Formats: sequence, structure tokens, C-alpha cells
Amino acid sequence: MKTVLITGCSSGFGLDTARLFLDRGWKVIATMRSPRIDLLPVSDKLVVLPLDVTSDESVRNAVEAAGPIDVLVNNAGIGWLNALEGTPIDVARSLFETNTLGTMRMISAVLPQFRGRKAGLVINVTSSVTMKPLPLLSAYTASKAAVNAFTDSLALELAPFGISIRIVLPGAAPETSFGSTAFSRLEENGGFPAPYAEFAKGVIAAMRASGAPKTCSSDVAEAVWRAATDPSAPMRIPAGADAVALDR
Ligand SMILES: NC(=O)c1ccc[n+]([C@@H]2O[C@H](COP(=O)([O-])OP(=O)(O)OC[C@H]3O[C@@H](n4cnc5c(N)ncnc54)[C@H](OP(=O)(O)O)[C@@H]3O)[C@@H](O)[C@H]2O)c1
Repeated sequence: MKTVLITGCSSGFGLDTARLFLDRGWKVIATMRSPRIDLLPVSDKLVVLPLDVTSDESVRNAVEAAGPIDVLVNNAGIGWLNALEGTPIDVARSLFETNTLGTMRMISAVLPQFRGRKAGLVINVTSSVTMKPLPLLSAYTASKAAVNAFTDSLALELAPFGISIRIVLPGAAPETSFGSTAFSRLEENGGFPAPYAEFAKGVIAAMRASGAPKTCSSDVAEAVWRAATDPSAPMRIPAGADAVALDR
């Protein structure tokens, strides 16, 4: 039986990915900042562990408690929508701390066991905003584009050890709590700067009015499944109709 460790399983893509891998017979290490065992079906193949990807100690403890794993899915992430002028540097730092450095921290922690077995797969969940720039997302996009870039380089240094790496790029998924969490963070940090207020209103109205197809959690779970089980899958796998359309 194969084992997957997934970060950020308390909601959204991470939770649905954990469900899908459990359904399909994998052992799942579902990690969450505040562990809840009631979110996923009762199963002897499920282990729920505490994990905050911004903490060295938390990452070390979770990877040690997890034991041997075959696949690491770096899904945990936070969003942010604002003009650069409305983005305090501490907010930008927190985006990189979670989305970029959290991913690096997790990979570093599992590499010794992957190298030891000359096997292992890392799947990094980034975003389709790295494929087509959108306004008010510069800081968030930078934190995810950095993951794409470092993944391309890392793949080359891990290949000699038999370790593979893939990127899953979800499109916009309004059904997860991602957007509302980002809006709460926006409110806590003073909202849009006055000179950008009208522009931001227009951007948000256009986002909400768009009838274009969007991404569902199940699209992302299936894309992660493909990355985990199809050795011929490409390095970058778009997830969701909008992300797939951008990839054409
Ligand atoms: N939704 C979208 O439109 C969209 C589009 C493209 C890419 N993405 C990316 O997809 C991933 C999942 O997003 P989602 O839509 O499923 O959002 P979500 O429902 O908000 O889930 C995000 C998950 O990340 C966790 N998390 C946040 N900070 C963490 C930390 N420091 N350590 C560990 N876990 C942490 C959250 O845990 P808590 O409950 O503890 O906060 C939550 O479980 C993210 O990387 C996001 O950037 C999302």
C-alpha cells in the first residue's frame, strides 16, 4: 500500500485530495494546523497529524511521526488580493513563508528518506495565476511562481536519486474557503488603498460576474492523483476547466 502525506487538509483541495486517495486504497497522512479527525471517513488507513508548514519544529515532528511516505503533496497555502501599495511587507513575507518557504521546508524534511530509498515523488500545488497574470495578485503570484521556478531546477538535482517532482496548477475555485480567508485578511490589513478602490471594485465585480468555467476541488484531487500515479504525466498539470484552457 502506498502512502501520501498531504499538507493543508482542513478544507478545500487538501481535504478532497485526502478523501480521494483514501477511497482509492492509499494510506493517507492528512496534516492540518489544528487536527480534526471528524473531517475524513474513519479508516485504519488514515493518520491525522498536526503540521504548520511555517515551523521547522512542526515540520520535523510531523515527518518523523508520519514514517515512510511515497508521495508528498504540498497543498497548504494562503491567498492575498490587493495592490502592491496595499500589501504590507509583513503580509508579503507571510505569503512567501507559507506558500514558498513552507513548500521548501517540507521537501527538505522528506528528502533524506526519499534519497535513502532512491524513490519518492513531490507534488507542489501552485496556481494558474502563474500562467496568466491577473491584477491585484502580484504578491500571491510571486509566491507561487517562485515555487514553479524552484521546482524546475530541483527536478534536475533530484533525478539522479530517483526522486520525481510535479506541479499541479489549479484555476480559480470559488467554492473553497480560500477567497473568503483572503478577504478577511484584506479587511484586517486596511482594505484597498483609496487610489485603487474603484479599480479593485471593477476587478472583483468582473471576477464575480464571469460565467467562465471554474475549478472544483475534485478537479485538483484528480490532477494530484494523476501526478501521483501516472509516471508519464507532464511536469506541469493544470487542474480545472479554466486552468486547462489557459494551458492550450
Ligand atoms: N481556491 C483557489 O481559487 C485556488 C486557486 C489556485 C491555487 N490555489 C492553491 O491551492 C491550495 C489549497 O487552496 P484551497 O482553495 O483548498 O484553500 P483553503 O480551503 O483555504 O485551504 C488551504 C489549506 O491550507 C492550510 N494552511 C494555511 N496555512 C498553513 C500553514 N502555515 N501550515 C499548514 N497548513 C496551512 C489551511 O489550514 P487552516 O485551516 O489551518 O488555515 C487549509 O487547510 C493553496 O496552496 C492555494 O494557494 C487555490
